[in-house]
Amino acid sequence: MTLQQVNNDKKSTPVILIGVDFGFPHFDSELEELGMLAETAGLRPVARLTCKRKVPDAALFVGSGKADEIRLLAQTFGAQEVLFDQALSPAQQRNLERHLQMPVNDRTLLILEIFGQRARSHEGKLQVELARLQYLSTRLVRRWSHLERQRGGIGTRGGPGETQIELDRRMINDAIKRTKDRLSKVKKQRATQRRQRERRDTFNVSLVGYTNAGKSTLFNALVKARAYAADQLFATLDTTTRQMYLEGAGASVSLSDTVGFIRDLPHGLVSAFEATLQEAVDADLLLHVVDASNEGWREQIQQVQKVLREIGADGIDQVLIFNKLDAIEAERQPLLLADTFEMDGVQIPRFYVSAGKGLGLDAVRAHLTQVVLQSNERAMPPQGEDELRGLQL
Ligand code: GTP
Repeated sequence: MTLQQVNNDKKSTPVILIGVDFGFPHFDSELEELGMLAETAGLRPVARLTCKRKVPDAALFVGSGKADEIRLLAQTFGAQEVLFDQALSPAQQRNLERHLQMPVNDRTLLILEIFGQRARSHEGKLQVELARLQYLSTRLVRRWSHLERQRGGIGTRGGPGETQIELDRRMINDAIKRTKDRLSKVKKQRATQRRQRERRDTFNVSLVGYTNAGKSTLFNALVKARAYAADQLFATLDTTTRQMYLEGAGASVSLSDTVGFIRDLPHGLVSAFEATLQEAVDADLLLHVVDASNEGWREQIQQVQKVLREIGADGIDQVLIFNKLDAIEAERQPLLLADTFEMDGVQIPRFYVSAGKGLGLDAVRAHLTQVVLQSNERAMPPQGEDELRGLQL
């Protein structure tokens, strides 16, 4: 077991972070990402605890001895909520809440909560609501006996959770249906807009990447716009698109900044965000942004690839943009410097940039120019073909 006290800021709900190491390679022993997710959701991690297990305990996920330790820890650090890095079953969550006498939530709900707080567009809000309702519908039954009413989803801040808690399954299902109907109307409008855009015949480039990789910063640097960039997870939820002029090609491409990906993205959210991620599916080229300063960058690339497969965007040409080069220690830099990177057996071009400091962007622009010129060449009919057609007519 490792235990650390972490944050003394008194503003938001104090939580304990728990991670159980089942021997999977991506176990985050510092619970760094969960901590960032918690802070992004407005919670205040006060302690972290990790432990090892072979398999989850069916009733309590961690076993009763460890659950007692968590309770003691919560008392010691004044925590009001417990957050697990792994997904809990509805029964485990319920049992833990009874055992600990406080709200227990998992990573899935935390991500849903953040998406709920950040969605801006009408469509984005509907999508999150749908994912949230679907999540709740599986764990509604008698879960709330001692805690309801004063809590609203994560933390004790109130919010959409409050009313949902009171809904029974039938009402939730009705709400799911209504939300789906509204969403399908919005999707139709979006499809029309997309068709209009397609008619304009522009080359579409989408930025994709693990959350916090620096997509919005790169987007801003490339189009000189001001998309919201912040050291928070999922700062961007709705897709922003701008035209980017490439002098060498004498043409503009449309560049889209999309929602960040994360490991174990709740399945409901992947499908719920399909429309937003549709920009990625429709792109001619993906700029896959990687935070090269994060030691887990290889794993993050894999996770992004997984989501791209799920949304059917894995066949689209990609370029890897290794970002935050300025934040990599000098001794690690030579290890990274190669022009291509092998992904699923294919060599992908890669570039090294610091979007924050504006370094390496010319090479990216030059590559895009190259790609656009080649694509224009492919789109042109071979010389002489027009005349031939003219003759036949
Ligand atoms: P999501 O919206 O979560 O998907 O994030 P994002 O990928 O759009 O990342 P964003 O552009 O918001 O940047 C995340 C953080 O990384 C911010 O604090 C940026 O200032 C920082 N950042 C971006 N580019 C660089 C860089 O080149 N170097 C350094 N050191 N930090 C950077």
